[in-house]
Amino acid sequence: MYKMNRKNLFNHMENQSFACFFSGTSPVRTADQTYPFEVNKNFFYLTGIKEENVALVMIKGANMEKSFLFIEKTDPVTALWVGETMSMEEAKAISMVDEVFERKDFRTVLSKFLQDSRQAVFGALNALYLDLDRRSMDALETESDRFGNEMRNLYPNLVIASLHPKLGELRSVKHTHEVKMMQEAIEVTRLGIEALMSNAKAGIREYQLEAYYHFVLNSNGVTTSFNTIAASGKNATILHYEKNNAVIQDNDLILFDLGVRKNEYCSDISRTFPVSGKFTERQKAYYELVLETNKKSIEMLKPGVTFQEFNEFGKKILAEGLVKMGKIKDVSEVSKYYYHSLGHFLGLDVHDVGNYTKPFEKGQVITVEPGLYIADEAIGIRIEDNILLTDNGHVNLSESIIKEVKDIENFMSKK
Ligand code: GLY
Ligand code: MN
Ligand code: MN
Repeated sequence: MYKMNRKNLFNHMENQSFACFFSGTSPVRTADQTYPFEVNKNFFYLTGIKEENVALVMIKGANMEKSFLFIEKTDPVTALWVGETMSMEEAKAISMVDEVFERKDFRTVLSKFLQDSRQAVFGALNALYLDLDRRSMDALETESDRFGNEMRNLYPNLVIASLHPKLGELRSVKHTHEVKMMQEAIEVTRLGIEALMSNAKAGIREYQLEAYYHFVLNSNGVTTSFNTIAASGKNATILHYEKNNAVIQDNDLILFDLGVRKNEYCSDISRTFPVSGKFTERQKAYYELVLETNKKSIEMLKPGVTFQEFNEFGKKILAEGLVKMGKIKDVSEVSKYYYHSLGHFLGLDVHDVGNYTKPFEKGQVITVEPGLYIADEAIGIRIEDNILLTDNGHVNLSESIIKEVKDIENFMSKK
């Protein structure tokens, strides 16, 4: 799969060009500790390697495409402290690149490639491609930025271009193997949600209930894909509430927005349920409206639909429902109670890359997550599923996670 991913990317590179990608390193957290290492997702997509400080070089000549990895060789003293890192043989077997070099030789080997190009082994180089993703002028410099700046200085005739948007488009269409990974992440999420529902009770703090979710994840050897949102009562009207420290009250609804990362692929699920096991009439009315929006928005998903159509479709159902309930007078007031978009791409990242301006395509995975946030009634509801687009429609990958009122009440009555 990684070789095929590189092949697809080669098709978007000019002849006589090369591309460099970096796996990244963990930033310092404090003193001699670092944050857990998070591999650059584009690098992972092209190699399947999750090691620190690895570089991938892809070279495209007139009639040749070759890929090389530059990996740190385990130094015996470091190995005594932190264990062995990946061997060059393993790196080659996973990524199927043409050759693996030591990272310390990166500059020497690259210099030789550039020298060879001058001697017309594969013609004069036209471009260097990098993964350049600057979200703001104040964002920190990345390794790709640094490398690009250095190369611009050393080889001023080199054209530097970014493959970041193209990689986003390629990554947004999932291979069957990737869908399988996501389905596995969703399955652990289901087990975690059922543990939460089974242990829900008033009087404990949100983080104490959340702990049951983490127990399931740890037991399955996986991690969360983002910070869990455990929001009871009015807290659920704060979209990314992460304090999770309030005491859960008896008649509260509790909203969980959580995910699993397994083999680098993410799930992103929201479920909302009454702590007591039974919805009040008012909670049920709002819940049924969000559920109807969730189900109808899933139903309308198929290739060709645009993100804008999808968003407007869901918003309209919520707006008309609130008018019908008498909560608002005009549909335009819906944004008082619903203030985010209906979904996003999902994959190696939770808010995954992809082109949100093009119509949906087969193989993309999209979240569907309508919500209502009624602060004056201390009710916040979101119901989020993960949907795969297929030839003619879609498959709900999170179908097995219960969301019907009767199923939730029935499940909770048995705890
Ligand atoms: N968990 C963040 C989101 O649903 O988009
Ligand atoms: Mn979510
Ligand atoms: Mn989401």
